[in-house]
Amino acid sequence: MRLTDCHNFHDFRRLAKRRLPGPIFNYIDGGADDEVTLRRNSEAFESVDLVPHVLRGTPEVDLSTTIMGQKLALPFYCSPTALQRLFHHQGERAVAAAAAKYGTMFGVSSLGTVSLEELRKTHDTPQVYQFYFHKDRGLNRAMMQRAKEAGVEVMMLTVDSMTGGNRERDKRTGFSIPFKLTLGGMAQFAMKPAWGINYVTHEKFALPQLDEHVDMGGGTMSIGRYFTEMLDPTMNWDDLAEMVVEWGGKFCLKGIIHPEDAIRAAEVGCDAVILSNHGGRQLDGSVAPFDALGDIVDRVGDRLDVIMDSGVQRGTHIVKALAMGAKAVAAGQAGVERMLGLLKDEVERDMRLMGAARVSDLDRSMLRVRTR
Ligand code: LAC
Repeated sequence: MRLTDCHNFHDFRRLAKRRLPGPIFNYIDGGADDEVTLRRNSEAFESVDLVPHVLRGTPEVDLSTTIMGQKLALPFYCSPTALQRLFHHQGERAVAAAAAKYGTMFGVSSLGTVSLEELRKTHDTPQVYQFYFHKDRGLNRAMMQRAKEAGVEVMMLTVDSMTGGNRERDKRTGFSIPFKLTLGGMAQFAMKPAWGINYVTHEKFALPQLDEHVDMGGGTMSIGRYFTEMLDPTMNWDDLAEMVVEWGGKFCLKGIIHPEDAIRAAEVGCDAVILSNHGGRQLDGSVAPFDALGDIVDRVGDRLDVIMDSGVQRGTHIVKALAMGAKAVAAGQAGVERMLGLLKDEVERDMRLMGAARVSDLDRSMLRVRTR
């Protein structure tokens, strides 16, 4: 199976499963507990059907949108995801380059494996810095200062990860940084020697956003331990308000789902909220962002940009989210060129079939909620 055999998200997932050692594939692919939310995130899109218009004369489809003051050529962008060097040696570099090629935004994680400065220098397309709020306030200030100096356009604070989600797949394989695998996990690595050769013959794994401040080499650090031991569980709305002022630029809050939290985010001056349950990786049983979207758009859509992620696998998912009132959608998976291109083609074709020449032509009259 090659890249050219990949025609949609599902094909990419199959390719990743073939190429990546089990512990790494399961880290990206898995969710918390029984993975109910992981599945529900995508299924939610099926609870609404599209009601297309015809005869609207739509020769050209304009996919551009503006979120948080950033003009994007597409209504979707590459969400920040952690540890990308493990999935491919080009990691964040490949994602940023693909985003730049398509004129959309990309995110760099606090747990990113390429420095935010390098990526900011290499590409012009808007860049988001995904931020975790650490117990060490000095570290938080230093990280923000670095991002400011680098010229990052948007600060994105993630708030759904105050403690690690219960990812049982990772427990079984022993996934952590550096690797401290169970016997089963080791056997799964041995089955993918090509990945191993590629891994040791390319640049060493690093976490440049945190390296200066945190000794990740001293012992193994699972993602759960990072969340639980390093992030500040006492963080509250006052801390957020302070951070918004300190950053002084475009600010978005990622990982909210309660409508009252969206209202509070608007009140403290956030430019956007991202409805997200971290792809079902944190609290299993939490509501799917698409299910919460319409209500939140109604309540705060006139005060800030409402964006959503989690479970987005198809162009029609993006079209449904836009018609429901989302300003943009974040795609967290293989954000590589081909996947972005395929998604762009899907959205463009779907919009043509919907009779929508631009994103603002999509509205709720073009959706029907299933009653069954
Ligand atoms: C995760 C974090 C690191 O879900 O985003 O693993």
